Amino acid sequence: ASPDVLSGYTSVKVFSDKAKIEDGFIVSDYTYENAIVKRVPGGLYEVTPTKVDYQFKLDMKVPRTGLMMVGLGGNNGSTLTATILANRYGINFRTKNGVQTPNYYGSVTQASTLKLGVDEDGNDVYAPFNEILPMLHPNDIVIGGWDINSASLADAMARSKVLDYDLQRQLAKYMAQIKPLPSIYYPDFIAANQSDRADNLIDGDSKWDHVQRIRQDIREFKAKNELEKVIVVWTANTERYAEIIPGVNDTAENLLNAIKSSHDEVAPSTIFAVACILDGVPFINGSPQNTFVPGCIDLAEKNQSFIGGDDFKSGQTKIKSVLAQFLVDAGIRPLSIASYNHLGNNDGYNLSAPQQFRSKEISKKSVVDDMIASNHILYNDEKGKTIDHCIVIKYLPAVGDSKVAMDEYYSELMMGGHNTISIHNVCEDSLLASPLIIDLTVIAEFFSRVTYKKADSEDDFEKFYPVLSVLSYWLKAPLARPGCEPVNGLNKQRTALENLLRAFVGLAPQNELKLEERLW
Ligand code: NAI
Repeated sequence: ASPDVLSGYTSVKVFSDKAKIEDGFIVSDYTYENAIVKRVPGGLYEVTPTKVDYQFKLDMKVPRTGLMMVGLGGNNGSTLTATILANRYGINFRTKNGVQTPNYYGSVTQASTLKLGVDEDGNDVYAPFNEILPMLHPNDIVIGGWDINSASLADAMARSKVLDYDLQRQLAKYMAQIKPLPSIYYPDFIAANQSDRADNLIDGDSKWDHVQRIRQDIREFKAKNELEKVIVVWTANTERYAEIIPGVNDTAENLLNAIKSSHDEVAPSTIFAVACILDGVPFINGSPQNTFVPGCIDLAEKNQSFIGGDDFKSGQTKIKSVLAQFLVDAGIRPLSIASYNHLGNNDGYNLSAPQQFRSKEISKKSVVDDMIASNHILYNDEKGKTIDHCIVIKYLPAVGDSKVAMDEYYSELMMGGHNTISIHNVCEDSLLASPLIIDLTVIAEFFSRVTYKKADSEDDFEKFYPVLSVLSYWLKAPLARPGCEPVNGLNKQRTALENLLRAFVGLAPQNELKLEERLW
């Protein structure tokens, strides 16, 4: 490849002296500029700019990749599988509005664009998000996974009542061939009302045997489909929180021992996570429970295996992570946020049990924490450091997968005035969540091809830190590196992602300075 032309594998060609192609890798030089801030007594800030030179190295070859979903037969699992097959085989279908062609709306990687720069007139130019660097295409993802229910995906799709009949009819022959692998069921972790579904279970009570079985399932799936990489996503029922018990799940070693002694507090989702971590398979948790107990994060660190979580950020919370940020950044002080939901799918049925609801409540509540912390003019010891925030979820079978979210934001304005924003949001739940699973898979796969080193170091290139916080855009309660506060604001999350992609091709971060327009 010519040393000054990059990204030969996509439609975007970058001419940068900061990046070059070497043996199928893009190697880029990047100066990370930041500022260290010290708060000194008297309300002063001391800010010192910092610079660190890094080199990034990206493997340009997209591997043949499989996605194994835990909860494959659920609404998300069956909807995503059907969508991928419909796109792959180009299956058009009739709705009352006419002929619908398959697409990936709602997926950032497939249906959004990135600003590359400006044209000669200074106007912004955008390219598809997945064209700046080689990324996995969802049509190429090989799907598999587990479910405690034995229904084939054709039956699961019909049960979910998400997709139009004409599409279900055409897909049934493909979907019928996919059957979920038996899974792990510890009844105490999900709602008792799910027990009727549990007819497809791995035998035996030994939790360590369960870990080994999941590892074997992944290996067999990989071999059978000739895959180079597998990503596992938990989209099974929301579990209750696991209790954090010193000596049981606080360190990697204790957690492994607890699994070997089949300790009661080890959840199925943690068994899946541990199985993946032991084999270096990226594992993402799309539900709110604390799958990643401290011992699990410790194990991921020790094995340098990627993990990401928690809880898909699809409808109500996605809006909250934009709106609350907007209000606080506008200098307006949200006093209360009341969030009501009702939904009629199986997720709602499971969440109608108190302990599973509690997991969701915690996850939904945490989303405004960093916004409060960012503004001590509005939130301080004197005025209070909290927003009254209430979450209600009710199961209403009639509405099915069309979850209704009603939110009221009540804020304080200038001179004691008040503002109320009310939002009524009908989210076709699984059609919002399924594209997030695509993005999480595509981006997790992508980041598993990136390595870095400090520019002046003799060390080898190494992988990113195992907790993939770049996935937080798609997650309600982003798992962060221990000691780091999670970032919830959607715009910050997207900015980080875009600028990292730019760094890998030798482009400076997006700055929106627009000097072409503002200067003579
Ligand atoms: P669902 O209830 O339709 O599907 C869950 C599936 O998991 C069921 O088929 C069930 O049989 C299976 N399952 C339960 N325990 C299992 C285990 N131990 N191993 C394997 N399979 C197991 O739920 P849906 O709507 O697909 O949502 C899945 C998860 O994603 C839920 O936890 C939900 O809270 C979470 N989520 C969904 C969002 C959305 O749909 N918009 C947004 C955020 C999170």
